[in-house]
Amino acid sequence: MIVLRRFVVVLLAGFLLLPEAHAWGPDGHRIVAEIAQRHLDPAAEAQVARLLAGHADRLAEVANWADDIQDDPAQQALWKATRSLHYINFRGPDCAYQPPRDCRDGRCVVAGLAHYVAVLGDPGQSVEARREALEFVVHFVGDVHQPLHAGYRPDKGGNTYQVRFQGRGSNLHRVWDSGMLRTRGLDWQDYARWLDAGGPAGLPPVADAPFATWAEESCRLSRDVYPPGHGIDAPYVEAELPLAERRLREAGRRLAALLNRTLG
Ligand code: ADE
Ligand code: ZN
Ligand code: ZN
Repeated sequence: MIVLRRFVVVLLAGFLLLPEAHAWGPDGHRIVAEIAQRHLDPAAEAQVARLLAGHADRLAEVANWADDIQDDPAQQALWKATRSLHYINFRGPDCAYQPPRDCRDGRCVVAGLAHYVAVLGDPGQSVEARREALEFVVHFVGDVHQPLHAGYRPDKGGNTYQVRFQGRGSNLHRVWDSGMLRTRGLDWQDYARWLDAGGPAGLPPVADAPFATWAEESCRLSRDVYPPGHGIDAPYVEAELPLAERRLREAGRRLAALLNRTLG
């Protein structure tokens, strides 16, 4: 009985606290990481293997760690310190990054990326610190490419924008994190292979675009993803899913280039 009651309490708490999503869903992050893994050069690949040794074989296995720590009682301090680094809310529809306005006290994904890339590339740091930095970088490069992780409306990246999707209530953020991707019916390995098989066709040159540029791109894209009438129907998915998939491919390619530069 007590066990049952505890179960009910946990279940209720789960519904009441339904967290704002903080990421592409797990599969989105795995797909980004897997595409990146396939484009590492040998030096960076060896460094990644060294940093992950004893923890994981591939980047995809650690791509969701930055979200998973929210459920680990031992990691609550780290979660609280990093939860605002998964997104940025631009303060104006111009989508032009102004740090004092859009990233006060470095509490945004652009600053989070800059910080953890610096730790990752610093050979003076411990292996543990650099592994943790790698895990954050893999995750945050994914997040910053999700248009609603860098929007400008006062709706928490679409988390409070209710929509109807597949006959149920949902919110726009969640549909972009995971709902639309699921409509492909692919597991993440096949999804990554399929997206990567397209090669770089249609993607901008990787260059070394700073993180703010990636966020500004997402912000501009986010302006056009709000469905009129709050309804997400098949034509919406047909129009927007290719955009979500292009962002996954860009994120994967850019993550690889970033790791090749930082660890090569
Ligand atoms: N919480 C507040 N704003 C958010 C955003 N843009 N993305 C994810 N979670 C958020
Ligand atoms: Zn996240
Ligand atoms: Zn999210």
